[in-house]
Amino acid sequence: MWSPVSETEVTTAPRPLLLADGRPADRAWSLDPALKHLNHGSFGAVPLVAQERQELLRVEMERSPVVWFPALPQRLAAARIELADFLRVPAGDLALVPNASAGASVVYAALALRPGGEIVVTDHGYGAVTMGAERLARRWGGRVRTARVPLDADADQAYEAVVAEVGDATELVVVDQITSATARRLPVERIGAEAGRRGIPVLVDGAHAPGLLDAPLADATYDFWTGNLHKWGCAPRGTAALVARGPLRERLYPLIDSWAAADPFPDRFDTQGTIDATAYLAAPTSLAFVERTWGWPAARRYMDDLADYGASVIGSALGADTTVEVGMPVPGMRLVRLPDGLAADRIEADALRDRVALELGVEAAFTSFDGIGYMRLSAHVYNTAADYEYFAEECVPVLGKWARENSGKRSAQ
Ligand SMILES: Cc1ncc(COP(=O)(O)O)c(C=O)c1O
Repeated sequence: MWSPVSETEVTTAPRPLLLADGRPADRAWSLDPALKHLNHGSFGAVPLVAQERQELLRVEMERSPVVWFPALPQRLAAARIELADFLRVPAGDLALVPNASAGASVVYAALALRPGGEIVVTDHGYGAVTMGAERLARRWGGRVRTARVPLDADADQAYEAVVAEVGDATELVVVDQITSATARRLPVERIGAEAGRRGIPVLVDGAHAPGLLDAPLADATYDFWTGNLHKWGCAPRGTAALVARGPLRERLYPLIDSWAAADPFPDRFDTQGTIDATAYLAAPTSLAFVERTWGWPAARRYMDDLADYGASVIGSALGADTTVEVGMPVPGMRLVRLPDGLAADRIEADALRDRVALELGVEAAFTSFDGIGYMRLSAHVYNTAADYEYFAEECVPVLGKWARENSGKRSAQ
């Protein structure tokens, strides 16, 4: 029986979710039972029912490719309607792209040359997306301006920090709806409204939003939003949405030039040469599975309660000063501060992730922000309180040992 190490109060463990036939929820996935899976957020996890659906679609494709491919755009258009319904946006605003990175690349490729133009990003931005913004700014002969948003900044402070970087030379604002390393929200609606007032396009990186937020585009006035369905939505990998409104969207083209180029947005994204589009077609199966089994609102509540519990048991095992109050919390994700000596930068955080998987048998996410290392918890329906209790009991002592060893090495240098 697990018991807390420190005196910190531990929140109540939510009861594990079950499948309709009474089996534990994780039986609906094919995750290796020999490992613990505490990092849904990075790459998602696909339920068996959607894997099977995708496999059936592949069989159909392989049986008669010459029938399959010409009919594909119509089938993708039908899938888009279901995915748009999940996100509560009109299907005519939503194009399918393989991932959020691709969604950002499509937007970057679409913007006209702005000599000397500046792009505003934040220091919470996803590295790959920010790198794309930097490349675009270089092409323009301009530069990226990075808004510094303190981890605990509330909505007003975060808004002020971003808007303070917006000036006459700003040609694009790129801002995360839910940040990756720091698992917090940013006030994208207000930032979008202000940029819109000034006539500056905004790209919202909503990679984590589908499934975690009920209606991620409600109250949105921004031009471009991209989000992954293969993260919290559990869709097969390579399924993301690019939602675009306003006149600029007619400039958006798929990264692969293809036959539908003369079609309007978003239809032209339904034809991208010869690709395996079965992930897009199977994606609604994942969304429907969660809806049918628990309902998304109940699933989200469970993820959030479990992430709370996980943060409290792991935080309590780590000892004092591990609680992290981010300014605008996210359902289902939490940060726990690591001891000094662990994950002080991204390279160290990734190395820790790999070592924890290899030596401790746990898939976990470690991140860093401002030189401090964090464990980022992201709980999904297949996780249970026991996963976090295991980590607290078996892995936290090892993390403590590694931290002391690393700190010792550093002070000896
Ligand atoms: C905020 C954010 N943007 C973009 C991405 C990239 O997602 P993908 O690798 O699916 O393109 C991620 C992935 O974790 C993310 O968290």
